Order: sequence, then structure tokens, then C-alpha cells
Amino acid sequence: SPVTNDFKVADLSLAAFGRKEITLAEHEMPGLMAIREEYAASQPLAGARITGSLHMTVQTAVLIETLAALGAQVRWASCNIFSTQDHAAAAIAVGPNGTPENPQGIPVFAWKGETLAEYWWCTEQALTWPDVPTGGPNMILDDGGDATLLVHKGVEFEKAGQAPDPSTADSEEYEQILLLLNRTLGENPQKWTQLSSEIRGVTEETTTGVHRLYEMQRDGTLLFPAINVNDAVTKSKFDNKYGCRHSLIDGINRATDVLIGGKVAVVCGYGDVGKGCAESLRGQGARVIVTEIDPINALQAAMDGYQVTVLEDVVETADIFVTTTGNRDIILAEHMQRMKHQAIVGNIGHFDNEIDMAGLAKIPGIVKDEVKPQVHTWTFSDGKVLIVLSEGRLLNLGNATGHPSFVMSNSFSDQTLAQIELFTKPEEYPIGVYVLPKHLDEKVARLHLDALGVKLTTLRPEQASYIGVPVEGPYKPDHYRY
Ligand code: NAI
Repeated sequence: SPVTNDFKVADLSLAAFGRKEITLAEHEMPGLMAIREEYAASQPLAGARITGSLHMTVQTAVLIETLAALGAQVRWASCNIFSTQDHAAAAIAVGPNGTPENPQGIPVFAWKGETLAEYWWCTEQALTWPDVPTGGPNMILDDGGDATLLVHKGVEFEKAGQAPDPSTADSEEYEQILLLLNRTLGENPQKWTQLSSEIRGVTEETTTGVHRLYEMQRDGTLLFPAINVNDAVTKSKFDNKYGCRHSLIDGINRATDVLIGGKVAVVCGYGDVGKGCAESLRGQGARVIVTEIDPINALQAAMDGYQVTVLEDVVETADIFVTTTGNRDIILAEHMQRMKHQAIVGNIGHFDNEIDMAGLAKIPGIVKDEVKPQVHTWTFSDGKVLIVLSEGRLLNLGNATGHPSFVMSNSFSDQTLAQIELFTKPEEYPIGVYVLPKHLDEKVARLHLDALGVKLTTLRPEQASYIGVPVEGPYKPDHYRY
């Protein structure tokens, strides 16, 4: 059973392995390492208490130790039940100077294969700071918005004086949130209100979490300022695209080892994630078909050489299905009923509602069997088998190890600079949702050029004035799309 102190991980004896992989990753994360060096003396995050809710991987370990190196105290949970790399979590709990017998690291609450109840318990632990008057963090670093959601729901129900009955929840996920908040209302009816009172802001990693923030801003319910890290160019145009280009097929390969060449693969959604996924499948020799609802993205997919059609037309003939939309109910049970024998179904969008897993389980006579963790066959009454990856949750983190270090160095450099912005300049960020200033976006890109041997051309002053930009940048207006 998982080890507990002021942390909970699967197995502390994995720490040495985790530390070796963290050391290798540091070399591949030049942005984060340069930021450590630049801010070593000034310690801009001294006094910051950061609660992180983000996939507890090797790359995230380098982020966590960067935040700590800049002066922050940190508590961490994963933002998905399957995405933790247990050796990375162990190394963080043990710390570079500790041992499994004498852990001296950072409080982390994460292991691969949490239940939903455990998942929300971990999120609560990361948000609950012992020996702090408010009991909480003063910064949140979020991926998908679950830590932010828990704080907001907690405050909302404390204002109302009660939380809804868990049995009225429309999903197992929400039922767990309600169970937790009913408990905390009983224990301390001001827990979340007190806890949130010192939060200066949240920096949000992904498209789906950013949607939630803009919704709260629109509804006037947002409690603290937020930086939308996802829409930094060096995040969404790199991590979402090139990261998924790497980790999508990594996940499919590790899960199934099926030959992708010659197969027909359907990619639902042609945003940043969909573009990377489609390219990687095509790179393996698959014939890729795209579905889209947005005419601009559909036209892009067509011009990139993909067939664009509706799912209904290809559901019986395709071999591999990947959802990348961040939207709900993309592949329904009725679609899965029509798929061919041993078709592979997986999702790489943030939440598990893109594929109707509940509907699949309700098909009369269907039998689910585990091939190995995060790979299941579903056998229909006529003998047809579907292979479903990571139970419909993001397969690149469930079946593989997520994006590789170099691309995450960009995203996490954006995260670190966003944390510094919000923590050190609260007066510049009244409650609202902001993107990272462009000069910081360009800075992050710059930090990754040397490692790739890129030689950048320097703008001459006459050229700079001709196109109307400073020699040192920023080079593009905010509306430029890259
Ligand atoms: P995006 O907004 O750029 O792309 C989503 C696309 O899906 C849009 O073009 C939209 O028009 C399309 N779409 C929406 N409903 C659709 C439907 N019913 N059928 C077909 N297409 C539909 O978003 P982005 O950045 O590509 O992110 C997508 C999801 O992936 C989000 O949930 C995001 O949080 C997640 N994500 C996951 C990562 C991972 O490592 N697994 C990495 C980055 C993002």
C-alpha cells in the first residue's frame, strides 16, 4: 500500500531510478535550467506557496524543483488518475538529498492508478497547507483546472451554507467532489473561503482548463487572476502539436504494438493537438481521416492533404480512432457498436468524456477484460472485440509517459515565468484571465535555440524600423497567429 508521511506515493524505493531520469531530463530542459540560473540569486518565488495539480511525470519533477530553486514552497498532486510516473513521484518525495528511509523532498500526493475518490483526496492534500494561517497556498499551478475548481466549488457551497447531495451528481467525478465538500463543510464550514483568501492567482496549462477560466470570468465567479499559459505560443503551438506528434503514437505502440502503416486512422478534431496526432499517424504510414466542426480547421486539414469527413461515414472501416477535441460525446456507444473487429479507440483530449465509456459498458452482453493496465478489450455478444486505451482518458499519459522533456521545457518555462509574473506583480493583474506577455513568450523560445544549433538572424536597426518593431523584439503583434 502507498507510503505516507506528508506525502503519498506508490513506492519510495523507486526514487533512485526517478532521480536518474530527472538528471537526464534536466539536460533536455534547457529553458527551465536557464531560468534556474537566471533567478538563483534573486529568488523571485521566495514566500510563494504553490499548489500544483499537473501530471506527476519526470518532466514535471524538473518543473517542481525549478519552482523550489526559485524560492517557492510546493505541494503537488497529479491531474489525472493514470498519468503519474511512480519513480518520478518517489524521487520528488525523497528529494535529491534524502533517502527512502529518510525522505526530505517535496510533499507529493500521486500514484499511477488512483481511484476517483483517491484522486480528489490527493488534490485536497496538495491544497491543504499545514502550519499556515489560511491553511492554503498563495499560488495555484493547474492543468485542466481541477484544483481551481475544487477551491471555487468549496467557496460557492460555503457561501450557500450547504453542498448538493452527492447522489444527485450527474457523473462519478462530480459525486466524488460533492462527497469531499460535504465532508469539509462538516469539518470546517469556512475551509475553502479561508484557504482561498490569500491566493494571488493560478497559471493554467491546458486548453480545457483555460475554457473553464474564461467561463468563470464571463459569469463573474472567478475568485483570483489567472494566466492562460496554454495560449502562449511556445506552449500550444509546440506542446499540443509537437508533443502529441511524439506521444500519441508512443501510447498506441506501448499499448498495442500494432503496425500503424497501412491502417486507416481517424483523428477527431484538427486543432493544435489534432494536427500533431494526424501528422504522427501519417508519418507511420497510416491513411489519416479527419473530422471537424470548424470550417477553418476542416479546410486546413484538407489542404494538409487529409480526407475530411464525418465519423458516421468511416466508423465501420477505420482501424484506429483518436479523439482530440476537448469536447464531449465525440465517439458514442452506437459508433463503437459499428466498428470493426479489433479497432483501437483512444482519447488524447484532457477529459474522459470524449468517448462514451458509460454507454459502452451498458451495451447488452458486452464483456470488458484487462489485457494489461490501461489496455482493455471489450467483447460484444457477437464476438467482435474493441481495444480501448486508458479507459478513455488521455492515452499519451496513460499508456506512455506523456510528452518528452524538450517540448515540456517550453511549456514549463512558460509556467514558471507566469508564476513569477502573478506572484511578484499582483497589482498588474486584477481578477481576470491573461496571456503571458509576448516578450516572455519570445524569451522562452530563445532559451531553446542553442540546444538545437539554431542560428538566429539579428535584425538591423533600419530593418527593425522598416517593419516597425524593436531590434530586441517583441517581433509580432498580439493578433499574429504563427
Ligand atoms: P483546439 O481548440 O485547438 O482543438 C480542438 C478542435 O476540435 C477544434 O478545432 C474544434 O473545432 C474541434 N472540435 C470540437 N468539437 C468537435 C466535434 N464534435 N467533432 C470534431 N471536431 C470537433 O484544442 P487543442 O489545444 O487541440 O486541445 C484539445 C484537447 O486536448 C483539450 O482537451 C486539451 O486540454 C487537450 N490537450 C491534451 C494534451 C495531452 O498531452 N494529452 C496536450 C495538450 C492539450
